[in-house]
Amino acid sequence: MRTLLQIVLLSCLLTLTSPAVCQAQDSRAISLDKNWRFRKDTLTGAKQPQYSDKGWRLLNLPHDWSIEDLPNQKEGEVQGPFTQASVGKAATGFTEGGIGWYRKTFTLNNTYKGKKTYILFDGVYMDADVWINGHHLGNHPYGYTSFSYDLTNYLNPIGKANVIAVRAKNIGKNSRWYSGSGIYRHVWLLPVNPVHTKLWGNYITTPEVSNDKATVNVQTSVDNRSLRQQTVIVKLDLINPSGQVVASQKRPLTVPADSSADLTQKLLVINPKLWGLDNPVLYKARVTLTADNKTIDQTITPFGIRSLQFDGQKGLLLNGQVIKLKGGCIHHDLGPLGAASIDRAEERKVELIKKAGYNALRLSHNPPSPGLLNACDRLGMLVLDEAFDMWELPKNPQDYHLYFKDWWQRDLASMVLRDRNHPSVIMWSIGNEIYEAPDTSGYRIAKRLSEEVRLLDPTRPVTDAIVFLPPYTKKPWKDYQPHLANLDIDGYNYFLDPSPYFQRDSATLHRFETERSLHPDKLYMSTESFSKYALENWNETEKYSWFLGGFCWTAMDYIGEAGIGKSVLVPESQKVPQGMMGMGLFYRNNWPVFNAYCGDLDLIGNPKAASYYKNVVWRNSPVEMLVHRPIPEGQKEVIATWGMPDELKSWTWPGQAGKKMQVDVYTRSKTVKLELNGKVIAERTIPEGSITATFQIEYQPGILVAKTFHNGKETGSSTLSTAGKPVGIRLMADRKTIDADPNDLSFVSVEVVDNKGNVVPSIDGLEIDFKLNGEAMIAGVGNGNPADMSSFQQHHKQAYQGKALVIVRPSGTKGAATLTASAKGLQGSSIQIQIK
Ligand code: GAL
Repeated sequence: MRTLLQIVLLSCLLTLTSPAVCQAQDSRAISLDKNWRFRKDTLTGAKQPQYSDKGWRLLNLPHDWSIEDLPNQKEGEVQGPFTQASVGKAATGFTEGGIGWYRKTFTLNNTYKGKKTYILFDGVYMDADVWINGHHLGNHPYGYTSFSYDLTNYLNPIGKANVIAVRAKNIGKNSRWYSGSGIYRHVWLLPVNPVHTKLWGNYITTPEVSNDKATVNVQTSVDNRSLRQQTVIVKLDLINPSGQVVASQKRPLTVPADSSADLTQKLLVINPKLWGLDNPVLYKARVTLTADNKTIDQTITPFGIRSLQFDGQKGLLLNGQVIKLKGGCIHHDLGPLGAASIDRAEERKVELIKKAGYNALRLSHNPPSPGLLNACDRLGMLVLDEAFDMWELPKNPQDYHLYFKDWWQRDLASMVLRDRNHPSVIMWSIGNEIYEAPDTSGYRIAKRLSEEVRLLDPTRPVTDAIVFLPPYTKKPWKDYQPHLANLDIDGYNYFLDPSPYFQRDSATLHRFETERSLHPDKLYMSTESFSKYALENWNETEKYSWFLGGFCWTAMDYIGEAGIGKSVLVPESQKVPQGMMGMGLFYRNNWPVFNAYCGDLDLIGNPKAASYYKNVVWRNSPVEMLVHRPIPEGQKEVIATWGMPDELKSWTWPGQAGKKMQVDVYTRSKTVKLELNGKVIAERTIPEGSITATFQIEYQPGILVAKTFHNGKETGSSTLSTAGKPVGIRLMADRKTIDADPNDLSFVSVEVVDNKGNVVPSIDGLEIDFKLNGEAMIAGVGNGNPADMSSFQQHHKQAYQGKALVIVRPSGTKGAATLTASAKGLQGSSIQIQIK
């Protein structure tokens, strides 16, 4: 009979390339996600095993209570998960935290006999206390780092029930964005032999890489939790993507009692397949421990063979090729799912961002879920992994600054040790816009943090995202220099911004140049930038080999920081203050706007203006055409600092016939001709240094074409057609066959279409009802409207710009599920999803 360990290992081997299963950060881990009891309440006694949780809700993890509908709904006050009474207000998108309890009863079988059993949390938001059978295992304040406890001494005998209780506290003002609440990532049991490779105990590096051969170093830390010294054989196998062992080695290792020891093995791989952005090939390192000829432990760790160089003259080289970062920052929420980190949702997010032309993500401002990094590895996306948004000085009264002094070292280690085998991770960031950056305390902390990171992983550079705001910090630029001396790469937020908002002294725009002239071997990047200045940023990136490119704020919409990217209309006569004061317009109590709206992609993944614009900036598309939404008479648009003009890819504007409309054509070609219904109606030459041609044309329904020309040759075209009347609904699943695993999902896009099948983008606010039958449930519904505060969980949603989204989650049983959509006056539609 196979042992449980063998079965788990086998299932990992079989499914490593499939998104749904085996996303564990340790291949030995066994999912503990199913059948938890949950109650949102401040309870006493719930940690005791005998406490009755019968009336509690039964659910599967990952779970986020903040995305669920609140009780006592009241129009204008409490809608869906949003409430005016929210402590975090616009910052957390008007959602609520609170205190929640989770309990899980489980019985272990004989496979756990004689084992050490750990429990591993990928992440709990936040301030988690964990009890096993009434014994307090510990408290873990940071909501974004993984942590584990040894359960062994407190477990009941095999066959007798055990109770895990977890209390999560999301209290007070503790975040600048939507965090979610509760056990929002996976939970695992890790049963191991008393002599075993530690959790995060394999460290894989590839110090020499060429097309002919690569050196792979695997350092293995073995823990001996038994009472006598043990000698084990550590066997290392490197397995190529086709499953063949391409290199092997065995070495003995003696580990004293109740202690640990390390062993590093070095292997050659001949003709390696290199991990790159277009071909993200993954190998596996299998480390088997044997004692007395018996296998006692085995870990399988995916890794990539790739070379990463940060060269002061050439920039960033991946496998010897220069790469410029076309990056975006993201927060961790998954739109309609809230923070609940379901693996397929993480993967789809990376897929969409990659499809939009990005090659890099900055995980602002906290360590991500393992599922997100696995997706980046599999899909070929570079990652800047970031630890903190604050150190000792608070950004909010109850935020992580309260814990920083006691916890930074453990939390930093959790990030680096857990994530350092991911080929996608290319840099570590120790902070974002840290208030004490220009102070002596900031110098001290930056030094300790960067040294600690280098100790745990000397192969990747350390950075920090610096912002320069003298009006707040009252510090001159020179005070930042001792801080920067600790960094391998300087990350600057908003330093290439030609607007008055962030120009704080004459040197700001050229800070990169002046800094570089002082440090001629250092590399620079923009850790945050405004999408509307994507061209200015990219110009610098192409100009300087030492400027790596960077990350815009943000690649995708997120809940919280409500409205910072949404343009607003004000009376024409209203004076809008310039500079920082103008931002006040967007930092108001923006109810009912709940999302930031500064993403290139909206909350359900559809591209917005910034994404089309960047297609041209990054030379991925020869031309893009967008049409500005008409501005009512007497009003003017104020474009948000983090936003774009309110433009859509649409030529469907009912009620506008005969009126002037603004059409913007983006291209790197010299001239643009506009044709409406077959006739040339305008022509423009693009001004030097710009990629935009702006037209004011009279609206007539039909077909609008922008053709671009360079040196007399047509270089591209973009077409927009007026849609007809809406007649029906189209449902399209991103995947029609999914695994019978609650970690898999099918994302079904819902489109209101005319009789030719064109989406009707002028449809806003049409209610669509959904029904789901079969072996699945609706995990969430959504649209891209930043001001639609309706439920993400009820089975209806309004279409926004003709679109909505339904997220279908398998129950765990094989079969099929049918989703049906209907709306008043439209022909309904159904789609069947196979669940295998
Ligand atoms: C930046 C900050 C981000 C986000 C952004 C938009 O300064 O680093 O976390 O808050 O502003 O408000």
